Amino acid sequence: MTVKEIFETMEYGPAPESAVEALSWLVDQGDCFGQFIDGQFTDPGASFDAINPATGEVLAHLTQATAEDVDAAVAAARKAQPKWEGLGGSGRARHLYALARLLQKHARLFAVLETLDSGKPIREARDLDVPLAQRHFYYHAGLAQLMEVELPDQRALGVCGQIIPWNFPLLMLAWKVAPALAAGNTVVLKPAEQTTLTAMLFADICRQAGLPKGVVNIVTGDGAVGEMIVTHPGIDKIAFTGSTEVGRRIRVATAGSGKALTLELGGKSPYIVFEDADLDSAVEGLVDAIWFNQGQVCCAGSRLLVQESVADRFHVKLRARMDRLRVGDPLDKCTDVGALVSAEQLARVADMVAANGAGAAHRAICDLPAAGCFYPPTLITGLAPSDPLMQEEIFGPVLVSTTFRTPAEAVQLANNSRYGLAATVWSENISTALDIAPKLVAGVVWVNAANLFDAAAPFGGLRESGFGREGGSEGLAAYTQPRATAKPLAPVVAMPAGRGGPVDPVDRTPKLYIGGKQARPDGGYSQAIWSKAGALLGQAPIAGRKDVRNAVEAAQGAAGWAGTTGHLRAQILYYIAENLSARAGEFSHRIDAMTGKRHGAREVEAAIQHLFTAAAWADKWDGRTANVPLRGLAVALKEPVGIIGALCADEAPLLGLVKAMAPAIALGNRVVLAASEPFPLAATDFYQILDTSDVPAGVVNILTGPHADLAGPLAAHLGVDAVWSFSSTALSAEIEAAAAGNLKRTWVNDGLAHDWFDADLRPFLEQASEEKTVWVPYGA
Ligand code: NAI
Repeated sequence: MTVKEIFETMEYGPAPESAVEALSWLVDQGDCFGQFIDGQFTDPGASFDAINPATGEVLAHLTQATAEDVDAAVAAARKAQPKWEGLGGSGRARHLYALARLLQKHARLFAVLETLDSGKPIREARDLDVPLAQRHFYYHAGLAQLMEVELPDQRALGVCGQIIPWNFPLLMLAWKVAPALAAGNTVVLKPAEQTTLTAMLFADICRQAGLPKGVVNIVTGDGAVGEMIVTHPGIDKIAFTGSTEVGRRIRVATAGSGKALTLELGGKSPYIVFEDADLDSAVEGLVDAIWFNQGQVCCAGSRLLVQESVADRFHVKLRARMDRLRVGDPLDKCTDVGALVSAEQLARVADMVAANGAGAAHRAICDLPAAGCFYPPTLITGLAPSDPLMQEEIFGPVLVSTTFRTPAEAVQLANNSRYGLAATVWSENISTALDIAPKLVAGVVWVNAANLFDAAAPFGGLRESGFGREGGSEGLAAYTQPRATAKPLAPVVAMPAGRGGPVDPVDRTPKLYIGGKQARPDGGYSQAIWSKAGALLGQAPIAGRKDVRNAVEAAQGAAGWAGTTGHLRAQILYYIAENLSARAGEFSHRIDAMTGKRHGAREVEAAIQHLFTAAAWADKWDGRTANVPLRGLAVALKEPVGIIGALCADEAPLLGLVKAMAPAIALGNRVVLAASEPFPLAATDFYQILDTSDVPAGVVNILTGPHADLAGPLAAHLGVDAVWSFSSTALSAEIEAAAAGNLKRTWVNDGLAHDWFDADLRPFLEQASEEKTVWVPYGA
């Protein structure tokens, strides 16, 4: 064979990795694993098999945890938590560092075990999964070390329940365990039933590292065990990675429980190739985007959008590359594509593709092993954007493709998805790439690259890809809570009906404020608002479901607000403050009359302060450049959430409304505000201020009426991106359950009071923004 022929055929000889060490480690552990609770393995019980999907061979037996096991794990975690947190950041850092070191020392054992258990190529387990898991522990050792200085007002949440999937078993464990431990929490983790073995090895490492008992507990089994964790009353936070369907179920199951929740769910991420892209590199990028881990990646670039002018040429190159992918034995170091995780997953992928009648499918020319869960790399072209294969997550080595003509059309097609996890843009023109990246609805955007990850860069989704970020200081924050404890919030009730006549003989009929206009409520009802002395202060409209819809529609019409500059938004907030200040006396009297208290003047003054503070932040709530080990930039941008519905504080009728509104609009969000239920007239006066302050129509919409009637429609509305509740009516459960529909973010008070005079707007700014990490690797 000549050198030329060798290059052309690219034939590789077999280069198998030995499984001897990993298999003997399994033998040493005995026939069946128990649970890892309170620092030791329990006796095995009713078991299920750990299967090598590449061969069908049984690797080990695992125990399906019982409710008693979960109870014991939670109790051990609870007992260990105060002492673990009490070790302080530097004490915890030592332990995290020890875990990182041991992961490094046993790197090859972890990699081989992962490959045996999951079917992923050893090259990926060895070069990506395991090093990234180590990096996560090192990075979080550092975050723990710095926590007391950097986050002096934050403390741990307590006990965290963590449920992870089978596509990156060890890496997802690291993503969950490292930040939780760094922040001072203890954990009960459940690996996926298909891939539990590296979690068992990690348990062994915890013992070797001398991690205090009960800090990490691992229970094994299927979704039923996951459900036990989710509903366990002894758990303070649930962190889940997996399917959108199960994520939605978890959102409903935890609604109203007060448990913190982060969800990292599915995706159908667009991979956009512009005509000026380096097409060969873009083809190579696609190999990493969709054939990495057999396409079983939540952020896989599974939807190719290629510009029409280069589509044919690109598809030819792509098919040629696909036919060169080496599919087969995952333990062979030359293998590109290994086995799918299980026979069920193989059947699911095959069924989805078989149901496709419309597209033209190219299956890579390759010799599939006779047995095992193998599926050939596949490309399906010519699909309509609405085709189920263009919309649904396949979670296998199957790429779907369509074309676009203009950049605007590319953005429209890319965003035509219920998901919003990741996106890739290929263009040699930096202006094109950086113009498109911010327009994509995605938590992560890669420019001329795919599937780059690092512990320092926030990762997470929008829409039905879930909420919350993992990685970076943002990821750590999701495992903390304020040190200050909040007091319970007593229901705030309206003044009883009096007998006096109207205070103001000239009727100033308050209305709803929708789309920059005053609007009568659709239902045609109003509610009398009385002063403490029994005088009639006014009639506030009672808004209903239709008014919520109108308000959301008006907010949708004001989408341009997100594209305005922080400078401009600051000017408008200063203008609102100025106009409020000019009418301070009038507002203060109104508040005193409604509440029967004498803090109106203080409330107005604090509202003016909050407007100034929000204006100050409008052009200073900056993103950051994440310090990733890569030649290039990973920029964590702060973007507005979109449309936020807020049930405003009952007890602080003006201040509560302003404190919710001002930070939200400062960052480019639009809001639908349900005013204080018992004291709504400060809000209906306030829209006159908005009217005279150059606030564009639809940016702020104000409704009045019972919170219990408005919460459900707001939380269930698919056009609303986040719902906040500061109401004194108990609505957390209803809101969180209704929000499961489109998995919108929620921020509810769980019956606890907020100090509306507190000048710190940062918690509001955090809730009003989303991180988007844009990766731009260097390279000429
Ligand atoms: P899954 O979402 O059912 O499993 C993920 C984890 O959740 C596992 O540990 C499982 O035991 C647990 N679980 C299942 N039901 C639960 C429940 N009711 N409460 C609490 N925990 C529960 O994913 P599955 O069925 O293995 O895969 C189905 C599809 O989900 C895949 O084809 C893929 O499309 C998607 N998927 C997406 C992932 C991602 O990272 N985005 C990861 C895994 C699956």
